[in-house]
Amino acid sequence: MGFAVLVSGRGTNLQALIDAVKEGKIKEEISLVISDNPKAYALRRCEENQIPYEVIPREKFKTREEFEGELVKALKGVKLVVLAGFMRILGKTFLKEFYGKAINIHPSLLPSFKGLRAQRRALSYGVKYSGCSVHFVDESVDGGPIIIQAVVPLLPNDDEETLEKRILQYEHRILPQSVKWFLEGRVKLFGRKVLVEGAKYGTYPTNPKLEDF
Ligand code: GAR
Repeated sequence: MGFAVLVSGRGTNLQALIDAVKEGKIKEEISLVISDNPKAYALRRCEENQIPYEVIPREKFKTREEFEGELVKALKGVKLVVLAGFMRILGKTFLKEFYGKAINIHPSLLPSFKGLRAQRRALSYGVKYSGCSVHFVDESVDGGPIIIQAVVPLLPNDDEETLEKRILQYEHRILPQSVKWFLEGRVKLFGRKVLVEGAKYGTYPTNPKLEDF
């Protein structure tokens, strides 16, 4: 059993994972993709790449617990569950089985701009830097322990589309990177703090160019 990916939409992050497996950067297979949305373009990517998938729509179930019960059943035995643009909040039933084994990608520098349309809110707030984060899934929305973040500047002429695109390039790097680390057994969780064994961290943070004065 390899790892599973949950999706709801176009699946460019899923594609980055498919590519990383093909290139041998990730040494495990994607054993299953689950979408809550039957129309997700991500499912076409599964067909094109012979990856097994299941559609589990939330509307088919009366309660969130039943929906999550079905997810847990389908995911039995997988080593890791990756939420890649999966637009549902997961709770107790899922986390009882998968806390510490489920990660999510979010398009902001958490804890800023949790939830929907993070890029648009970063723009309208006027921050100079945003980015993306991969974190463990817990019961909060985009609030679990952070594994890795990438910093992305906002440029003066950005609109939602240009910013989304710039952030996405980094999503496609840090998500496969995290999956590789996790599957190599190098991601250690200590309460809220995550350490990655042997990871090469830069010595200095990314800083803007500061003018002499
Ligand atoms: C990505 O930007 C991902 O970070 C975001 O949805 C997009 C999915 O794109 N996820 C969230 O906002 C979760 N809170 P994709 O389907 O092309 O991978």
